[in-house]
Amino acid sequence: MRLFFGLFASLLFLPFGCIEPLIKPVEKNSTEYSERYRPQFHFSPKSNWMNDPNGLIFENDRYHLFYQFYPDSTVWGPMHWGHATSKDLTHWTNQPIALYPDSLGYIFSGSAVVDYKNSSGLGREDQPAMVAIFTYHNMEYERLGREDYQTQGIAYSLDHGMTWEKYNRNPVIQNPGIKDFRDPKVFWHEASQKWILILVAGDHARIYNSTNLIDWTFLNVFGHNEGAHGGVWECPDLFPLTTDQGEQKWILIVSVNPGGPQGGSATQYFVGDFDGQKFTTDQKEIKWLDFGRDNYAGVTYNDSPGGKRILMGWMSNWDYAQETPTISWRSAMTLPRSLELKEHKSGFYLVQNPIIEPSIIGKTEEFDVSQVKDGVLLPAGQFQLEFDLDLSKKTVFELSNPVDRFVFSINPESGHMIIDRRDSGPIEFSEKFAPEQQIINYTPEARPAKVAIFCDASSIEIFVDSGRYVFTNQVFPEQPYNRLQILSDGVISKKIIFSELKSIWHE
Ligand code: FRU
Repeated sequence: MRLFFGLFASLLFLPFGCIEPLIKPVEKNSTEYSERYRPQFHFSPKSNWMNDPNGLIFENDRYHLFYQFYPDSTVWGPMHWGHATSKDLTHWTNQPIALYPDSLGYIFSGSAVVDYKNSSGLGREDQPAMVAIFTYHNMEYERLGREDYQTQGIAYSLDHGMTWEKYNRNPVIQNPGIKDFRDPKVFWHEASQKWILILVAGDHARIYNSTNLIDWTFLNVFGHNEGAHGGVWECPDLFPLTTDQGEQKWILIVSVNPGGPQGGSATQYFVGDFDGQKFTTDQKEIKWLDFGRDNYAGVTYNDSPGGKRILMGWMSNWDYAQETPTISWRSAMTLPRSLELKEHKSGFYLVQNPIIEPSIIGKTEEFDVSQVKDGVLLPAGQFQLEFDLDLSKKTVFELSNPVDRFVFSINPESGHMIIDRRDSGPIEFSEKFAPEQQIINYTPEARPAKVAIFCDASSIEIFVDSGRYVFTNQVFPEQPYNRLQILSDGVISKKIIFSELKSIWHE
C-alpha cells in the first residue's frame, strides 16, 4: 500500500515538474480544526453544514472540491456550493463560497468541466471557462405542490474557479414534469465529440448530449428495472475503466436513499457499455461500492492527471447526518480513492485504493502478531494500519479505549464480514446510528489479502483485499481509540504496521 502511495504521489506530480510547498491552511496555534471529533486527515468545512461533493475537477495543477454547503447552520438548509482546493488531494485550502442560491432556487449537486475549446462561448481566448452544471431547487414551487421544481442550470468562472457568474438564460434543462430531477454529471465524450450529461429522475437515470454545454438533447434512460430501488436515485456518474486484461467497460455509479444494504443511504454501481447515446448492462445482481454506512453521493474527478479515476464521497448517511455529535460543523468527505476495475470468475468488480500524500505519514511502529493477540497500546490517535490476512480464517479486530470499542470481524463459516459499532462511543444521538451489527456476505478464499485501516478522530475506513471490500463508518468515541487487538490465525504478514497520520490542518 505504501508503495502504491509513493508511486501514486510521484505519478501525480511528475508531469508538472515540481512539487509546490504545502502550506498548512490553518494559522499556527489556531484552535480551528482542533475541536472534539474534528477529522485531522479528511476534508471537513471550517464550520456549518456540508453534504455531497460537487464539481470535482482537476484544473491548473489543482484539485477542486466544491460541496453542498449551508453556511448558516449545522443542519441542512438553503444550499450553496462551498469550495476548497488542493495540490495533492490530502492538504486542503478553504476558498470563498462559489455559488449562492438565487431566484431560481437553491444550488443542489452537480459537476464541473473546463471548456478548453470554448464550445460554450463563455470563455475568453486567454482563459477557458470552468463551467459548473448543477440543479436548481425551487422551494417556492415545491411549497406550491408543483412537480417541476428541479431544473438544471450552469455557471462559469474565468479565474480558475475562484469567482462565478451564473449563465443569464438559466435553466439550460427545463423540468419535464418529474418530481426528482437532479444531480447532473457532465463529461467530454471523445468518441462522439460531445458533452454528455447524466442526471437522475427518481427511479432512473437520463442521458443527454450537447455541443456547447447550453443546448442539451435528451437521448435515453437507464435503470427503471435495474439495480437497487429502495429509495430515490441520486448523484450519478458515468466513466470508462479498463481492466488489467485490457477490456474497457463503462461504470455507472448511482447513489440511493434510502435502500442501502445497511439502511439509509448507499451507493451502487453498474458495469456495462456506453456508446455515446445509451448505457447498457447485463448485470443482474446489485453491486455496492462501499459496505459501510458512511460513504454517500460519491462521484469522480473530471480531468485528473494520468487519466486516474478518483472518487470522493460524503462520509455520512441521511439516516442520522443532521444529528451527529459535532458542535460547530457537520460532516467530512471520505479519503479520496483511486478506482480500478477487476475481473473475477464471478464478474467485474471495483477496487478502491485510498490516496494519502506520504508526507503526512508520521512515526511508524511494527507489532508482532503475538503482541496484537494480547492487545497493544497505540502511540497516536490518528493512524493507518496495514497487514496481510487470510480471509478463510476467523478474525476479530478491535480498536478500543477504556470505555468504547469498535469491532470488525470476519467469519468464514457463515461467510460474513461484520462491523459492530454498537459500543464504538456515544450512539444515542440517533436510534438509527448503530441499532445492530452491519453484516456483509463474502466468499472466503484461502489466499493473502491486503488490509489497510485508516482511523481519524471520527471515522474508520477499512479496505480489505486491496480495496475490494470497503467499509466506511463514522464513530464518535469518548476518547481516541488507543488499543488494538487482533484475534486471528489468519494474519500472514510477520508484522502489523502502524503509522501515525499527521494533521493536514496543523503543524
Ligand atoms: C444527495 C442529495 C442530492 C441533492 C443534494 C441536496 O445527498 O440529496 O440528490 O442534490 O443532496 O443537498
